[in-house]
Amino acid sequence: MNVLLIGSGGREHALAWAISGSGLLDKLYCAPGNAGISAVAECVALDAADHAGVIAFCRANAVSFVVIGPEAPLVGGLADALEAEGIKHFGPSRAAAQLEGSKGFTKDLCADFGIPTAAYARFKELAPAREYVAVQPLPVVIKADGLAAGKGVTIAETYEDAIAAVEACFAGAFGQAGAEVVIEEFLTGEEASFFALVDGTTSLPLVAAQDHKRVGEGDTGANTGGMGAYSPAPIVTPEVERLVMTEIIRPTVAGMKQRGMPFKGVLFAGLMIGPEGPKLIEYNVRFGDPETQVLMMRLKSDLLAALLATADGVLKDFDVRWYSDAALTVVMAANGYPGTPQKGTEILGLDEAGAVEGVEVFHAGTRRDGDRIVADGGRVLNITARGKTVAEAQLRAYEAIAKINWPGGFFRRDIGWRALTRG
Ligand code: AMP
Ligand code: GLY
Repeated sequence: MNVLLIGSGGREHALAWAISGSGLLDKLYCAPGNAGISAVAECVALDAADHAGVIAFCRANAVSFVVIGPEAPLVGGLADALEAEGIKHFGPSRAAAQLEGSKGFTKDLCADFGIPTAAYARFKELAPAREYVAVQPLPVVIKADGLAAGKGVTIAETYEDAIAAVEACFAGAFGQAGAEVVIEEFLTGEEASFFALVDGTTSLPLVAAQDHKRVGEGDTGANTGGMGAYSPAPIVTPEVERLVMTEIIRPTVAGMKQRGMPFKGVLFAGLMIGPEGPKLIEYNVRFGDPETQVLMMRLKSDLLAALLATADGVLKDFDVRWYSDAALTVVMAANGYPGTPQKGTEILGLDEAGAVEGVEVFHAGTRRDGDRIVADGGRVLNITARGKTVAEAQLRAYEAIAKINWPGGFFRRDIGWRALTRG
C-alpha cells in the first residue's frame, strides 16, 4: 500500500524509518518531511492544514493510509476530513484530540471517571482565577487551556509569579490557547511517558520511556520539547503499568467512548509516579518526541501493521513485540534553542555517526542545501542507539555524537542519568 506520513520532526523520521521496513508498504510519502526523512520516503510539499490538498494528493497517488504525526493537524480536524472521504488514517478525530487540545476537557474527564490526576479548577475570567490562585499551597501550577507548543505551563513558587502567570494567560501571551486557564495542584514524584495504541475500544500498552525536558544538564534551565529520552523506564514496573492501564488508560478510553467521541490512535500519558501511585499530568494524542525515536529502536513488530490494526479497530486480536534491548536518544539542538535557534549552520560527520554500532541518526530539523545538510529548526538531530542496557546505549550514542562536527549546535551530556544511577 501507499502511505502518507504527516510531519517533519525526529518523531516522523523514526516513524518513517520503521514504516519503511514494513512488508505491507509499497511507497511512503512524507509531508513535508526533512533531509533525513528523504532517505526513506519521498518528501512532498503539502500543508497539513489544507485538508482538500491532502485529500487530492491521496487520490492522485493512490495513498490508502495516512499517518498523522503532530498534534496540530489532529486538533485541526485532518482525521475528520480524511474520514469523511473514506481515507483510512492513524490519529484521532478533532473531538477526541481535545484530550491534548484542551487541558480543562481532560481534567473534567478525569473528575467524571475517577482518573487520578492533580486537583484543579478552570477559569475563563481573570478576577476569580486571581482570587483562587492566591490561596493555593505553593508551588502551584498554571496552564493555558489550549495548545501552546509546550510553553503554556508555569510552575509558580511564589504568589507573585502565580498571579503574573494567570495575568499573562488572560492578556494573550498564548493567544486563544490562554483564553481559559487551568490552575492545579503541584504533583511530586518521577515523570514517565506512557504510550498505548487505542482503537476506540481496546487499548494496547506499548513500552514506556522517560525524557529530559530541561535544556541544561542535571535537569536544569528552561523547559524544552525534550532533550533526550530512553526506554525502558525503570520507574514503570509491571505493577505501575498495571495501575496505569486499569486506573488511567482504560477509564479514559471508556469515558471517551461514552461521550460519543471514541479515541483512535496513540494515547500518550504524561505520568507523575509518586507515593500514591501513578497520576496523569496530561495527555497527548500523538507519539512523543523524542520518545518515539527510542520506541522505534526497540520495536520488533511491523509498525505499519500495528497502526493499521489500530485504525481498523482490531487491536483485540493484535500484539506488539519488542526487543529486550534498551534504547537512548540524545537531542542535538541549534544554538539559541529553546529561544530563537540559529538556522542554516552546516552539519558534518553524519555518515560516520550513523556507522557506529547500534546507532541511527534521526533528523528533527534539517534541510538539504546542495550537497550540504544544514540546521533548520530548534531540535535538529536525534542521535539514537540501541544497547543491551541503557548504559551501553548511552555509550554508543555519545560515541556517535563525537563524530559529528557541528559548531552551530549543542547537546546534554547526561541523558539517561536517572536510569543509570538506579543501577
Ligand atoms: P506540559 O507542557 O503540560 O507537558 O508540562 C510541562 C511539565 O510541567 C511537565 O512535564 C511536568 O514536569 C510539569 N508539570 C505539569 N503539571 C504539573 C503538576 N500538576 N505538578 C507537577 N509538575 C507539573
Ligand atoms: N517529549 C514530550 C512530548 O512529545 O510532548
